[in-house]
Amino acid sequence: MMNSIRKLVSCVILDLDGTLVNTANLSVEGYASVLSEHPAGVYFGWAKLSTRGFYKMVMSIGWNPYFDNTEKTIEPWLLHKFDEDFYGEELHLVIVGYIRPEANFPSLESLIAKIHEDGKIAENALELPLYAKYKDETYFKSIHNSHL
Ligand SMILES: Cc1cc2nc3c(=O)[nH]c(=O)nc-3n(C[C@H](O)[C@H](O)[C@H](O)COP(=O)(O)O)c2cc1C
Repeated sequence: MMNSIRKLVSCVILDLDGTLVNTANLSVEGYASVLSEHPAGVYFGWAKLSTRGFYKMVMSIGWNPYFDNTEKTIEPWLLHKFDEDFYGEELHLVIVGYIRPEANFPSLESLIAKIHEDGKIAENALELPLYAKYKDETYFKSIHNSHL
């Protein structure tokens, strides 16, 4: 676990916001620069839901080779068990680190196991002061505004 955390690149900070449609798969429209500037891979950071607050987040940017997708997508996974849908809620993200490149897998089980490992790495890394400090309302706002 610590080995993986040590491999994290220094902070890459950007913001994305979008309206959630059931799952947190975001439409590619509006994220062209994020998609082109970031190599396919798994990133982590903080998510903010407008009416609920902050959640730890791990995110895939890429083509999902296991599913042979033709489109590069952004798929944030909020590390929290929600009891109800948050349809229509506004989502803001700050990406603070990188975990690994995108990969293919011999089975769905091994892909899912890897995604859970990514989730644990993100959970632990986001406890570190280096990354925990970005869970901050003002910071989200300033990052967001600087891109308007
Ligand atoms: C943290 C995370 C890491 C992922 N890593 C990979 C990966 O390395 N390779 C891949 O093909 N898909 C990867 N995915 C994408 C999954 O294939 C996809 O999210 C999942 O299977 C659901 O796809 P669906 O919503 O189209 O059903 C990752 C997703 C997440 C959230």
